[in-house]
Amino acid sequence: MDAIDVIRTKRDGGQLSAGQIRWVIEAYTRGAVSDEQVSALLMAVFFRGMAPDELAVWTQAMVDSGERKDLSSLGRPTADKHSTGGVGDKTTLPLAPLVAACGVAVPQLSGRGLGHTGGTLDKLESIPGWRADVHEEAYLAQLRDVGAVICAAGNDLAPADKKLYALRDVTGTVESIPLIASSIMSKKIAEGADALVLDVKTGSGAFMKDVASSVELARTMVGLGEAAGVHTVALVTAMDRPLGRAAGNAVEVAESVKVLAGGGPGDVVELTLALAREMLAGVGRGDVDPADALRDGRAMDVWRRMITAQGGDPDAPLPQPAERHVVTAPATGTLTRLDAYALGVAAWRLGAGRARKEDPVSAAAGVVWTAGVGERVVAGQPLLELHTDDAARIPRALEALEGAVGVDAGEQPLPLLLDRITA
Ligand code: URA
Repeated sequence: MDAIDVIRTKRDGGQLSAGQIRWVIEAYTRGAVSDEQVSALLMAVFFRGMAPDELAVWTQAMVDSGERKDLSSLGRPTADKHSTGGVGDKTTLPLAPLVAACGVAVPQLSGRGLGHTGGTLDKLESIPGWRADVHEEAYLAQLRDVGAVICAAGNDLAPADKKLYALRDVTGTVESIPLIASSIMSKKIAEGADALVLDVKTGSGAFMKDVASSVELARTMVGLGEAAGVHTVALVTAMDRPLGRAAGNAVEVAESVKVLAGGGPGDVVELTLALAREMLAGVGRGDVDPADALRDGRAMDVWRRMITAQGGDPDAPLPQPAERHVVTAPATGTLTRLDAYALGVAAWRLGAGRARKEDPVSAAAGVVWTAGVGERVVAGQPLLELHTDDAARIPRALEALEGAVGVDAGEQPLPLLLDRITA
């Protein structure tokens, strides 16, 4: 095989053979094809796209660059969830213990946040003592004993993606539906669950800003999941405004605990239950109502055991910010705009997120708000509260929030659940 032939085929709009794809992914992962050549190939894919069967082989080759986990020894069905990322999106935290409480094991390998969206591991690390690293044996033991684990992915999970993603990041080839879909799905397929639900966000705070591209991404990922034998469903959900009432790390853990206690914001509860129902239905347990496990405390019990198993203290007070700054409502009327992207950038600038992979995050930083879109606000009432460890960060966060709030401004917020995509 010759990398130049592979590049030329795609550059000229041809379809890569299965042999070419398997060779180039394998050779690149072990360092036998250069970054320059794979950069050119990625740019050709960016412009030419990939046919569904071509993309399925590409994704499988990425899975095969590492190990596909075997969860069959657990003796119970397994279901997983992936969100394309949004502001205030903490649903993984209540969802994993909730689905586990319904008898389905949830192996959830998660990431850290980059840019304006938060990372699940960063959020959980605000719980004193909690550790993201769980070794293979402890991982399986926790899945068996507790039913749910949320932890960092090891280096053997689709290693091709690590290299390809880093290269896409510096070559302007991130925003390509086949490349995004194969990147996400290679990791999810390698996790080894029987069923997968995808939460594809759409709107200003999402990766995909418009509904049509979000639906296309969702369809592509569902096709890849099914081609790999994983029962996959996608929900396309609103991210024009943030989810719930908090964006940050400790503040999102606190909100998740409220949901597990049977309360919490209505949109977080609705989305968590919708995702839980899809996960249960995906493994043939569609008759189980997850709302019961929220109501009767079973989901909270699993949460406490899940946190404790990873060294965390579920009763420890969460970190509090050194500084708080209140922003009031600008007018009386219905809140029609609370821009997800602006709030995400504000939380990030307050210290909740990172600009580079190696940056630390602040557990206590973030934004909480007292009203969601569609609710009535009164001029001068406290609307947003900014949390930070460093008061010098507040002016830049306020800059990000300029124009983020609209009262009776004529916008029509998106419905929370916009579409459901199946194979
Ligand atoms: N998340 C991923 O894992 N990969 C992408 O390409 C984009 C988002």
